[in-house]
Amino acid sequence: MSNITLHTLTSLKQKGRKFSVLTAYDATFAHLVSSAGIEMILVGDSLGMVLQGHDSTLPVTLEDMIYHTAAVARGNQGSMIMADLPFMSYATVEQCMQSAGKLMQSGAHLVKLEGSAWLAESISLLSERGIPVCAHLGLTPQAVNRLGGYRVQGKDHAAAQQMIEDARLLEEAGASLLLLECVPTLLAEEITRNVDIPVIGIGAGPHTDAQVLVLHDMLNITTGRKPRFTRNFMANADSIETAIRRYDEAVKDGSFPNQDESF
Ligand code: KIV
Ligand code: NA
Repeated sequence: MSNITLHTLTSLKQKGRKFSVLTAYDATFAHLVSSAGIEMILVGDSLGMVLQGHDSTLPVTLEDMIYHTAAVARGNQGSMIMADLPFMSYATVEQCMQSAGKLMQSGAHLVKLEGSAWLAESISLLSERGIPVCAHLGLTPQAVNRLGGYRVQGKDHAAAQQMIEDARLLEEAGASLLLLECVPTLLAEEITRNVDIPVIGIGAGPHTDAQVLVLHDMLNITTGRKPRFTRNFMANADSIETAIRRYDEAVKDGSFPNQDESF
């Protein structure tokens, strides 16, 4: 696979074609995921849960993210690498610039941060300095304590309108991608239509431009409660590689997620 760039993803959106994203946190899985044709690898701060055994993403440090981003970069075979800025590593504009710079120097091609309108200034400064940004809206797990749990966001009219406005504002500020987590299918569809930048969804229905899952969830090796929006792609697959390819196909032909896997 030739190297995927932002230009690749934007032109896929323009052609109405979907792309796939999966998390990976080390070189071996990065190699598997990118070799299977997944356009983007997310070095997610979900590693706090699936690798470190914490019950939230809050304990993850910038040093942890640097370590895993560098490992993923060594195994990567041409996918885009997106790295999460962890909790409180972008609380101020200055912190944000420093933290994002370190992730880029570790091998990320873009960074993701969680929030809404308050991120506009940081996003435009990062973008001006050559760092593409994905803005993560909806359920933002770093804010789980304020949100009062891992719940679907944007359910009432006011909250939905606010999310539509935030999406437009962050696109205008210079975001290159949006990610919507746990939002109703119709709201995600409207936001996807309303912005020119590609929108990645998780628990956001089938109408976003791309889908993302946590690797351990789709391989069905996550311990504890399984979120509604994941699917076990290891079912009837004889290898991890086959499972990843089936996920990629299901995203691209629109058969994942189905209604039961959406809100
Ligand atoms: O950290 C992560 O894996 C994520 C995805 C769930 C979107 O942010
Ligand atoms: Na994350």
